[in-house]
Amino acid sequence: MMPILLVGAVAILAPAAVGDSVGLWLSIGIRLALLAAFVFVFLRMRRSHGRERLWSKVDHFLESSLLDEDSVLSQAISRSIDAGLPEIQVSRMQGSFLQTTVHMIGARRVLEIGTLGGYSAICMARALPADGVLLSLELEPRHAEVARKNLRAAGFDSATSGSPRVEVLVGPAIESLPTLQDHDPFDMVFIDADKANMPAYFEWALRLTRSGSLIVCDNVVRGGRVVDDSSADPNVVGVRTLLSVAGREPSVSATALQTVGSKGYDGFALFRVE
Ligand code: SAH
Ligand code: DHB
Ligand code: MG
Repeated sequence: MMPILLVGAVAILAPAAVGDSVGLWLSIGIRLALLAAFVFVFLRMRRSHGRERLWSKVDHFLESSLLDEDSVLSQAISRSIDAGLPEIQVSRMQGSFLQTTVHMIGARRVLEIGTLGGYSAICMARALPADGVLLSLELEPRHAEVARKNLRAAGFDSATSGSPRVEVLVGPAIESLPTLQDHDPFDMVFIDADKANMPAYFEWALRLTRSGSLIVCDNVVRGGRVVDDSSADPNVVGVRTLLSVAGREPSVSATALQTVGSKGYDGFALFRVE
């Protein structure tokens, strides 16, 4: 966007080529058109910035109205930022949505694909019974290490009795998933790793669940980019393929929620395994 604006500004401000009157009028016309485009783009950018600010403000208002101060979650974020992890965890309200969802379906075994610093894992583990299990798959050893610290600080690790067992498995999820086949089925799977592999993760989620389980996929809207059928972005292609595959899959019933808030404009897809 910025290069276009710069070229536009230079073209508008450059001295007019003085020639015959047709050339002069043409030059003025082009400059006016460029100026109009310039103003249009500027106003649109300002409006979308204003909208995002409002979404964030409302998100924070809902958080302060409905949720308690949570030093464990804030410290998990600080520790993740200090360790240089990207700030792409679910928002506070989305985390509480996941927590409520685990609670509502009475899940005892949850699988997460994409741990990052363990933020969403903490949210979901909090809704598990004391004998519950959460396994989370993470590619990056550095992320897993931060996640384990955050999970331990939240009262979850792989050994403590009296609270759900939470484990982070390091490696490409596509290699970890087949090792989970001999376990009991999962009641819920949260898919939130690399978007290009979403269709493959969905297929694995079907294999690792039972009738009545829930599969939740994050980031299925991506600021609306999901509707771009000519996109070559592997993330967009991954999400579009997931939606098309899942939509044709007779063994699930599906729904989706578009979301706005402090993470911008995105959405969750939810699938009930029939
Ligand atoms: N669920 C987290 C956010 C996950 S961000 C939360 O809301 O708190 C996505 C994570 O997926 C990143 O940590 C990234 O390293 C991980 N990831 C990317 N590709 C992966 C792969 N092939 N296998 C497993 N994890 C992967
Ligand atoms: C990205 C990944 C996510 O899972 C998310 O929720 C937001 C952003 C990303 O890779 O940019
Ligand atoms: Mg996500």
